[in-house]
Amino acid sequence: MLVNSKHFIAIWLKEDDNSIVQIIDQRHLPHRFIIEDLKTVKDIATTIKDMHVRGAPLIGITAAYGMYLACLNSEENNFLESIIKSAELLRSTRPTAVNLMWAIDKQLEKINQAQTKQEAISISLSTAKLISEQEIQNCKQIGEFGSKLIEEISKKKNDGVVNILTHCNAGWLACGDYGTATAPIYAAFDKGIKIHVWVDETRPRNQGARLTAWELGQHGVAHTVIPDNTGGHLMQHGMVDIVIVGSDRTTYTGDVCNKIGTYLKALAAKDNNVPFYVALPSSTIDWEMKDGIKEIPIEQRDGEEVKYIQGLCEGEIKKVLLTPSMSNASNFAFDVTPSRLVKALITERGICSADSVLSLFPENKK
Ligand code: MRU
Repeated sequence: MLVNSKHFIAIWLKEDDNSIVQIIDQRHLPHRFIIEDLKTVKDIATTIKDMHVRGAPLIGITAAYGMYLACLNSEENNFLESIIKSAELLRSTRPTAVNLMWAIDKQLEKINQAQTKQEAISISLSTAKLISEQEIQNCKQIGEFGSKLIEEISKKKNDGVVNILTHCNAGWLACGDYGTATAPIYAAFDKGIKIHVWVDETRPRNQGARLTAWELGQHGVAHTVIPDNTGGHLMQHGMVDIVIVGSDRTTYTGDVCNKIGTYLKALAAKDNNVPFYVALPSSTIDWEMKDGIKEIPIEQRDGEEVKYIQGLCEGEIKKVLLTPSMSNASNFAFDVTPSRLVKALITERGICSADSVLSLFPENKK
């Protein structure tokens, strides 16, 4: 998507130097646009763990590039052993987004077919590029399917303006390009449908206030940032026509794990008859897991992320303490919305009820 009128994707190989992966360091947005060079699998692991990049599809793509850098920089002796170690290092970075494991497993399967280190480098590079291109294409398809829903709502409204609520950042920054939840929004906007987006700020890391608001602004989409607790009130007053969120892991039975606070929005949507949609590529579906609440590992991050808040102050990015310094803080990063609260899933193959995703992806039936 566009940044100051120039097209960017969220991760790419450096022009003229295939040994360097470049990312937008999302920790500094919206106030600074900083591109970071990544040269080793350790750099990639730190980048995922410390959230220079984040968002399920992008975590997967970044890990795929991590496996390529692992191949590139491993010694010929003990090559496979060091690749396995790199895979384990990457797996340990963040537990919830299943795209991470999915991309690493895809890379291991391909690398295992290589006869030489040189071949492994070339295979892992083309696999990383392919994963990136496919995820971007999947997001584009999600946009095509999802924008039709927005268009239908627009046709039924007197003023034609569709108010969409979204949570966290399931935008192009989280996915490579287009986004998952934002893809229908961008596609609808580009078709000339009148839209307005309510952007949940998404404490504690404020991915909504910092990233989604920035993305929408760059594309010219009308939006309003709201404190996380506002959605229920807006829904009670008819100010939300549709909720679209992303996902970090969705079970094949349709339980949706997404950024903390999503579940509360789904409850409010159910109570107010507002359709609650989840947009996700198939790489985010866990084909092994049945019960999201019992089985999906929920990341717990440092309480410091809750206690402090970061922003621009007199031209400098500063972190300030919000709470009494001695207070404890807990930081569950995700929650699970049971499938019964989800109106439908928007995938690259179409829209389906949450509990019937296997009908769109029958090759995953066990
Ligand atoms: O902790 P994050 O920022 O990696 O969380 C992931 C997310 O951005 C969201 O949960 C998003 O809605 C799903 S990923 C497209």
